[in-house]
Amino acid sequence: MGMARWWGQTLVDSQRALRLPCWAVIPEFYQFFLNTKILFQAGISQNFGHECEQLGVQKLFLICDPFFAQNGLADSIQEALANSGIQTVGRFSEVPPKSEIQVVQKCAEAAMASGAEALLALGGGSAMDTAKTANILFSLGGDLVNDYSGSQTISEPLKPLIAIPTTAGTGSEVTSSAVIFDEASQSKLSFNDFNLRPTLALLDPEITLSMPPKLTAMTGMDALTHAIESYTSLQANPMSDALAMKAIKIIKNHLLSAVRQGDDLEARSNMLVAANMAGIAFDHAMVGVVHAMSHATGGIAHVAHGLANSIYLPFGMEFNLEVAAERYAGIARRFGIDTRLLNTDEAARAAIAYVKQLRKDLYVACGLEFRLRDVGVNEDQLEAIAQAATEDGTSFFNPREVGYDDVYLKIKEAY
Ligand SMILES: [Fe+2]
Repeated sequence: MGMARWWGQTLVDSQRALRLPCWAVIPEFYQFFLNTKILFQAGISQNFGHECEQLGVQKLFLICDPFFAQNGLADSIQEALANSGIQTVGRFSEVPPKSEIQVVQKCAEAAMASGAEALLALGGGSAMDTAKTANILFSLGGDLVNDYSGSQTISEPLKPLIAIPTTAGTGSEVTSSAVIFDEASQSKLSFNDFNLRPTLALLDPEITLSMPPKLTAMTGMDALTHAIESYTSLQANPMSDALAMKAIKIIKNHLLSAVRQGDDLEARSNMLVAANMAGIAFDHAMVGVVHAMSHATGGIAHVAHGLANSIYLPFGMEFNLEVAAERYAGIARRFGIDTRLLNTDEAARAAIAYVKQLRKDLYVACGLEFRLRDVGVNEDQLEAIAQAATEDGTSFFNPREVGYDDVYLKIKEAY
């Protein structure tokens, strides 16, 4: 996640100097801009030919996780499109769980050779990030690593990209960033530009009905972390606040049901919408120390992103308690806690206790681990994780300075 943003940079610099969150008042400056059209409907993934027509598109190139090529979902979407006169002229389904530069290049070459006019992405975060970055090459050509990695590197709008998320977590269908691993330099490259946002996001809860309980839990906790961290970010604004707060309330009401009862369409619908809202919130407000620790843990100990966030979330909240208590008290109310007889600090601690309990409930419901020691992290990796967390770009927006000693203590507690 890049640090330099094209909106509000001046404000963030001055706020950062003082570590001064702008929550209590309307910030002196903020910008809210979303160039993605969002459609929600059960079954929408089987019925969006008219949307393609509106985009002036008749030939699509499909990019998906291998799983959806095998289970027939990709086929059924292509068939439905064909029935409304939209041709799928090619398909790339070799997206690995963590996408890589060469995969993106291969995907973009296939898309160009197919004669497609637009891309269709179907899958989780990796398929989305592959499609978003492949669209740069597909639209503009050039060299992905040298010309486009970093922030605000895309000078013009890309070709249409239609995104159908299959999990309720990353919010990638509406965010302006993508992360791709580069084998050559053995590093994760981030791409950040509002032109990366998909043109159209289709939220179809029916697709998520078959998501396994544990994946539902970890992706849902990623969405909750997006909402909570964007609400306490230095770059929070009234628009991101509104989206984050609503997302928190929805996740509180529906995450456990979606995990326990996968075929509950109402719970699935709510989770998909909440993840989408939280995605818009954090794409504008950014995230903080929980994501910093998760990114570090993913890089060093290969723990899945949502799982790491779930483990770290209450500890990151404790880390920020001294500066964000009032915001956490507001979150406590969204969790349905009666805070009328509590002072601010007590209410904030009640919100943290609620998250800890939620993790225990998820453990009982689907075995989602809540300690680092249970997910393959070794104690001798904790120092390196703490160091990497202090250097992660997301720490930049955390309301409290992410210093090594204090963050190490929290990581140790999470162990
Ligand atoms: Fe995340």
